[in-house]
Amino acid sequence: MRIGVLTGGGDCPGLNAVIRAIVRKAVDAHDDQVIGFRDGWRGVLEDSCEELTIESTRGILPRGGTILGSSRTNIYARDDGPDIARATFDRHGLDGLIAIGGEDTLGVAQRLNVDGLRVIGVPKTIDNDLAATDVTFGFDTALHVASEAIDRLHTTAESHNRILVVEVMGRHAGWIALHSGLAGGADVILIPEIPFDIDEVCRLIRRRHARGRYFSIVVAAEGAIPKEGTMALSAGALDEFGHPRLGGIGYRLEQEIEQRTGYETRATVLGHVQRGGTPTAFDRVLATRFGLAAVDAAHAGRWGTMTALRSTQIELVALADAVAELRTVPVEEYQRYGVLFG
Ligand code: F6P
Repeated sequence: MRIGVLTGGGDCPGLNAVIRAIVRKAVDAHDDQVIGFRDGWRGVLEDSCEELTIESTRGILPRGGTILGSSRTNIYARDDGPDIARATFDRHGLDGLIAIGGEDTLGVAQRLNVDGLRVIGVPKTIDNDLAATDVTFGFDTALHVASEAIDRLHTTAESHNRILVVEVMGRHAGWIALHSGLAGGADVILIPEIPFDIDEVCRLIRRRHARGRYFSIVVAAEGAIPKEGTMALSAGALDEFGHPRLGGIGYRLEQEIEQRTGYETRATVLGHVQRGGTPTAFDRVLATRFGLAAVDAAHAGRWGTMTALRSTQIELVALADAVAELRTVPVEEYQRYGVLFG
């Protein structure tokens, strides 16, 4: 077979592990040829690609980022996008393509599949917000980075009796904020799923003070939003999928908390630190399992599916189901931990 591969959307630790596993299995077990497209769907539109070999993918397993590059290009943002994609598939004689990405990249994969191109998806995102898989690779690494940062901020917050606000990633889903906040013993955790009440945030912080704890850790997902009319936020520019550029809630919280409580407050925005660097062993193994399963799926003709972790097993699920909705934090789950706050 001739199989295309691309990585799209925000990068995440473990992408190279998937690419390596795909190449190993396709080339060694099936004598396939693997064509890597550069910078996500942009590589398909611009026909920018290279053949991936065992040699060219050596040593990449522990490396963060993606050797193929990534972008947030949307094939369907231009009318001729699907036709150009079809022409690229034909020009390279592709039997199909493995798209490694999150909701946007896999959304394009699903639409191309409906339009008659053969695509298999592999789920990635540090946000862990893809439905149909229990976990995406990248999440575990991001969680470790965020938890370690919170531990470090804890000690300095305590020394200076400060409120430290930690802004972590998570556009629509608060999994990183919730889990890193729980692991780091945060006093307040704010997630995109539940608009927060700034008065309640300040009440929890004041209660800690009244109990003799003069520092607090507030973990906020970048997508956390205040209840309507309680705090003004500015919106960032939109990408090709219509998502605003986030980042800024941490500094707004810093201002509001200090103003309302009178306690010295500082914000730390972890940003892309969470997406960079070497993947954890868990992410390397999950990514490798997904890569091997994607090649099996291609050889079984299971186009239009996505690899997924269900409990401990790797399964194939319909791409349509995978992109139908996001896996967000259930309100009951968040509320269960309320007793730990403040
Ligand atoms: O989708 C993953 C993610 O890391 C989100 O948490 C974040 O909002 C977004 O990517 C940031 O993307 P970019 O690096 O393109 O600004």
